[in-house]
Amino acid sequence: MAGNITFTMIKPEAMRKGAAGAILKMIQEAGFEIIALKMKQMSTKDAEEFYAVHKDRPFFDGLISFMTSGPIIAAVLKKENAVEDYRKLLGTTNPETADEGTIRKAFATNVTMNAAHGSDSDDNAAIETAFHFDKNEIIE
Ligand code: RTP
Ligand code: MG
Repeated sequence: MAGNITFTMIKPEAMRKGAAGAILKMIQEAGFEIIALKMKQMSTKDAEEFYAVHKDRPFFDGLISFMTSGPIIAAVLKKENAVEDYRKLLGTTNPETADEGTIRKAFATNVTMNAAHGSDSDDNAAIETAFHFDKNEIIE
């Protein structure tokens, strides 16, 4: 199944805007199958571990405060070429440059509060999925 799954989180500001349903609809209409789904509140430790790759970046502390500011929805998505296709559906990190029809164009607030996360490689999709889901929570 390498290459067929990606991991996403609907971030706290999109949750506060009530955009979760619309984002899940865009995901399904783009041909992704949702094979795992949960809402959770990330702890500071969770967020620091999840975003450890960014720990030396100037935006790290702000990112951790934001990602722990309210619940997220975590999901695993299945589709051929899932990682690349979902990054296209998400749009660019900064919503100012995101294309029409993308999740970030429709729902992001700014470069930090950018509506949703998507894995950037097959390896990270597997690592991030395992971070949030037990095997028996994935329905294939
Ligand atoms: P993500 O991991 O959330 O899917 O986003 P991404 O790949 O498009 O962007 P990445 O470089 O991995 O950054 C992770 C998240 O950190 C926040 N960020 N803030 N300049 C900034 O203030 C800045 N840069 C990045 C965003 O929430 C970004 O999605
Ligand atoms: Mg990233």
